[in-house]
Amino acid sequence: MKHIAIFASGSGSNAENIINFFKADPCAEVSLVLSNKADAYVLNRSSNLSVKTCVFNREELTSSSGVIKVLAKHNIDLIVLAGFLWRVPSILLDEYYGKVINIHPALLPKYGGKGMYGMFVHNAVLMNKEKESGITIHYANQNYDDGDIIFQAKCELNRDDNADDIANKVHSLEMEYFPAIIKKVLLKDE
Ligand code: GAR
Repeated sequence: MKHIAIFASGSGSNAENIINFFKADPCAEVSLVLSNKADAYVLNRSSNLSVKTCVFNREELTSSSGVIKVLAKHNIDLIVLAGFLWRVPSILLDEYYGKVINIHPALLPKYGGKGMYGMFVHNAVLMNKEKESGITIHYANQNYDDGDIIFQAKCELNRDDNADDIANKVHSLEMEYFPAIIKKVLLKDE
């Protein structure tokens, strides 16, 4: 069985969806949910589903005796960024080369980068009168929302959609596709 660690900074609807998916699929489990925010709702969701949680600060994220040790202790095979708002430091990217993936709520390379998260993304898509949006799942590197794309899914936007409508359409795609793509990535080398 493979072991997944999820990094998240916010509400955690993706984390919850991924945890539940792998509770029903014996190929992997979510062993750990880590957050840079002690009051992030993702921690409640994870504890309610009996998944261990860990809160860290910047120093613990970058130190060789911090987060990296916790990941090793749990034999983590894949790191999933699900609404994680810090860049991943090189100490983690080196150790988990090709094993850190991120989801972004837009069709990268458009609408990515620092400050582009949550409703900021959907408002920008709305302002530019885009006819479609979607999700991008990609390998993470040292930059925000960068790295090789693994998968994208699109949704059509209507002229009268507001930013909440766009967010809902994108969220549905995240719920539908993210866990299955994580499974594909986990099993691709077998
Ligand atoms: C998701 O929409 C995810 O795509 C986005 O944060 C949200 C987290 O929601 N990530 C980014 O914007 C990364 N740049 P959640 O906490 O409910 O899963």
